[in-house]
Amino acid sequence: MTTDILSRLRNLLGPKGLLTAPDDMAPYAFDWRGIETSHPLAVVRPATTAEVSAVVGLCAEAGVPLIPQGGNTGLVGGTVARAGQGALLLNLGRMNRIRELDPLDYTVTAEAGCVLADLQAASAAADRLFPLSLGAEGTCTLGGNLATNAGGILTIRYGNARDLVLGLEVVLPDGRVWNGLRRLRKDNTGYDLKHLFLGAEGTLGVITAATCKLFPRPRVTETAFVAVPNPAAAVELLAGLRGGTGDALTAFELIPRFAIDGAAALLDDPFDPLGTASPWYVLLEVAGGLPGPSLRDALEGALAAAMESGTSTDAVLAESDDQRRRLWRIRENLPEIGRKVGGAVHHDVSVPVSRVPDLIDRAGAALAARWPGIRPYPFGHVGDGNIHYNVARPVSMDGAAFLAEAGAVTRMVHDIVVDLGGSISAEHGIGGRKRAELARFKDPVELDLMRRIKAMLDPAAIMNPGKVLPD
Ligand code: FAD
Ligand code: LAC
Ligand code: ZN
Repeated sequence: MTTDILSRLRNLLGPKGLLTAPDDMAPYAFDWRGIETSHPLAVVRPATTAEVSAVVGLCAEAGVPLIPQGGNTGLVGGTVARAGQGALLLNLGRMNRIRELDPLDYTVTAEAGCVLADLQAASAAADRLFPLSLGAEGTCTLGGNLATNAGGILTIRYGNARDLVLGLEVVLPDGRVWNGLRRLRKDNTGYDLKHLFLGAEGTLGVITAATCKLFPRPRVTETAFVAVPNPAAAVELLAGLRGGTGDALTAFELIPRFAIDGAAALLDDPFDPLGTASPWYVLLEVAGGLPGPSLRDALEGALAAAMESGTSTDAVLAESDDQRRRLWRIRENLPEIGRKVGGAVHHDVSVPVSRVPDLIDRAGAALAARWPGIRPYPFGHVGDGNIHYNVARPVSMDGAAFLAEAGAVTRMVHDIVVDLGGSISAEHGIGGRKRAELARFKDPVELDLMRRIKAMLDPAAIMNPGKVLPD
């Protein structure tokens, strides 16, 4: 049967569209975190929606599992093919066309394999903003962004990926194409089905294209790197700046000192922008519609007030694009530092914004009591209450020995998150690795509805089986 399906796929897609040699599959068959190994039967690379439809149709007939894949930057093992699963990786990288960008409608219709940075650049070239922005933007794709409902650094102003979508084109698990590429701002004609596929992590169908909202490009952006004594001060600064800048805040990221010390130890290009070390920093941006001194004045005024009240101890504003990029690199390096510390456990949690300090205090104390010397380095999108509560091994502990305790570390962090009214996955999704935790916390009624939707859309269970839904 395997030989039969592979030869049918080869006939359908030609040699560019089907990879079976281990060396050819290697660029697709890996897990970004390096936690799992991936063993696909083959990698299929269709070039059109019609080809995706034909591939899915063949697989539905033969009962062959399919794993959709974009840039493979997902952090929860969503594209990993398990050994013996016999799954095909359906990589959408060849479907990377921008089909239409309409500056009057402020919309863009692009294919799923379009790299996020390319979509941003095409929008900027038309003097429009596509506001999804995240560290992986040079590699991740629109389809992956939508399938994971990605967040990133500008959600405080523009929302998550889900909020940016007006219409979708989806290949359903039986091979049919749903063309829902509407570009309407208002459309109340029954259930809003696109939301089923957004955030479904490839378990309900293959997103092949989307029509997304564009925005006016801010004419001025100011970037500040601000020292704060603790996370509570960061939250206070956030609340003050939102009002104090006339709702101009677009990004507000919490950065622990670890980002600077870790970079010094583990990366080539360390950078410490302020004279005196602080345990915590915030990297923030404000953006406005018109050039002129007023936005910078408002930001400087708000930061001066913060320094007066002790909410902040020091701050620097970027004076050029180059300085701005260097400041952002401190933040963007954090996932990379995590890969290099040799034993880190990662969490992507959210709590109400006001509870972020409680989360950091409580989790830090609980972990240190059980694993003395443990090094939490919580960071991220504090403006959305979304913290990457990552934890490096104690220096005295071997990496493998620490990772053997990963389940217990995670359990401790997640229990505190849920006690604070939070979520165990804020923006990365569930993938293959958080399913047991989902089973532990998700309302049984909600889980039952999720299972029924899956069974209704994908009765043969060929779409990314073993992901999202607990066994
Ligand atoms: P992939 O990794 O290829 O796939 C992710 C999931 O989506 C898989 O389950 C896959 O099956 C499914 N999928 C992919 N394409 C499709 C499709 N066309 N149709 C249906 N299902 C599909 N995430 C954030 O939310 N915010 C961040 O700030 C952020 N920063 C990151 C920084 C770094 C350095 C890295 C490595 C990752 C970061 N991520 C972040 C995680 C990741 O980049 C995002 O989840 C991204 O949206 C994944 O896109 P991708 O194209 O790489 O998807
Ligand atoms: C980030 C990824 C880990 O925000 O989501 O850097
Ligand atoms: Zn993030």
